[in-house]
Amino acid sequence: MALTKGLFVTFEGGEGAGKSTQMHLLADSLRARGYDVLTTREPGGSVGAEAVRHVLLSGAAESFGIRMEAILFAAARSDHVEEVIRPALQKGTIVLCDRFMDSARVYQGITGNLEPAFVETLERVAVNGVIPDRTIIFDLPATVGLERARRRAASNSPDRFEKEQLETHEKRREAFLDIAEADPRRCRVVDAAQPPDVIAAEVREIMESLLSEGDEPRSSNAEAAS
Ligand SMILES: Nc1ncnc2c1ncn2[C@@H]1O[C@H](COP(=O)(O)OP(=O)(O)O)[C@@H](O)[C@H]1O
Ligand SMILES: [Mg+2]
Repeated sequence: MALTKGLFVTFEGGEGAGKSTQMHLLADSLRARGYDVLTTREPGGSVGAEAVRHVLLSGAAESFGIRMEAILFAAARSDHVEEVIRPALQKGTIVLCDRFMDSARVYQGITGNLEPAFVETLERVAVNGVIPDRTIIFDLPATVGLERARRRAASNSPDRFEKEQLETHEKRREAFLDIAEADPRRCRVVDAAQPPDVIAAEVREIMESLLSEGDEPRSSNAEAAS
């Protein structure tokens, strides 16, 4: 079942907050009800962006400096938006994305200490009008998230971002909450310390209210072009 216009929902928060787990649970429940659903992730999500993902997460771009790294993230996001997300929304698909523009605001803008005007410009160019209809922010103390992420990755070494200090992770948690506070129409915060099934029910409820808003004006504009 395709909607007349797709819906774009992003999953944001720190490492180990349960973004990927909940995105897939929501996708399963929507598909079981007959909806057309696409799950995707950042950095990556398109052929071009997945190639850049490896460079970013391995830390190979670190030596270019944080500004150039932010430009690479934006380039990956642009490819993902134009090749995957916008076309899917135009077909009426529900697009669920694991991390999107808020992760750039937080990781490059807040904890990367980049100038807000620079981060905003990159966001505007990369997103090009494709703003999430709903953003679910998974809120969790950094210690809990890092412990979960470590257990998950027991066999792998931590990536470029997982290696950073606890203090940095707490700063990101606050930054995600600030985004939610500044944009209450788009964002919903869930307590990610709860059991997965309790969180999943909250996430389904958030999706339900978005689906029932169907006839109201939309913030996202899948028709926008540069
Ligand atoms: N609500 C939860 N309570 C306890 N453990 C969880 C919960 N949600 C996810 N996990 C576990 O924590 C780890 C990280 O979850 P994941 O969904 O990969 O987080 P993220 O994508 O936000 O990094 C996984 O091993 C997952 O099974
Ligand atoms: Mg994940």
